[in-house]
Amino acid sequence: MAGPNCQLGIVADRMGAAAGELLAEACAVAMYASVDVARAAGCAFVVHGDARGVEILGLGDLPGRGVRTDFTSLDIRTGAGNCSRRQPLGRAVGRESVRVVDATAGLAGDTVLLACMGYHVVAIERSPVLAAVIADGLARARDVAGFAEMVNRIELRVGDARELFSSISEIDAVYVDPMFPPKRRASALPPKSVQVIRAIVGDDIDSTELVAAAQRAARRVAVKRPKYASPLAGEPSHTIESKLVRYDVYIAPHPIRTEVSS
Ligand SMILES: C[S@@+](CC[C@H](N)C(=O)[O-])C[C@H]1O[C@@H](n2cnc3c(N)ncnc32)[C@H](O)[C@@H]1O
Repeated sequence: MAGPNCQLGIVADRMGAAAGELLAEACAVAMYASVDVARAAGCAFVVHGDARGVEILGLGDLPGRGVRTDFTSLDIRTGAGNCSRRQPLGRAVGRESVRVVDATAGLAGDTVLLACMGYHVVAIERSPVLAAVIADGLARARDVAGFAEMVNRIELRVGDARELFSSISEIDAVYVDPMFPPKRRASALPPKSVQVIRAIVGDDIDSTELVAAAQRAARRVAVKRPKYASPLAGEPSHTIESKLVRYDVYIAPHPIRTEVSS
């Protein structure tokens, strides 16, 4: 991936050499001295870390204007608005659930909503770049009064969820939100964060296998889908509609025994 035509590079201005090197090692991506140097080397995206945190810059983004996570912008009042389990997302993973695995963390927008609703969330992301952005957002939120409790309900794991399910115990529900398939007819561009995620991780063409693995790991699986797309695992047990998307909920008739591998 690294090299003169790399798509992605890392610049760790004042992030601390150790953190920058860790990121480079985890991602197997080249490190550069500055954003300009990375762009001159052909990087379309730059993971930029400085005193403000970690962000992903696309072409033309000024440092400080990239995609990053700021979990502290959420209204975390108990039971209010987005943090209510009565919201479609809460109903999809089950209002009685305790431990939820978010198998497709992305930039952790849904992970944080679930934690805000009071669930204990194991968030799995297979892109080390996105995982680094999440880890940075969690670390910063931990230092902000009122957010530590919520953030401490989140456990981040880096890797392919299909391989990690067996190492997680007592899963009440798995939440799956793969990249949406493109619409047949072109429409307005999706938000910048979604464009960046898609450019870095691709199209999640293996999402059917992910849902199948989730169904082996937990009795309840909730899959977020755009309204125009068909379900990923056949007819769901039921569907929850929200304004923009729907959640296909699969509930197995029998409890699933989870055996945690050591
Ligand atoms: C549409 S994004 C999820 C957005 C996320 N719900 C949010 O609120 O930010 C899909 C993400 O799932 C990740 N992903 C897809 N399949 C995965 C798998 N098998 N294991 C772990 N992560 C996966 C992709 O790398 C991508 O970052």
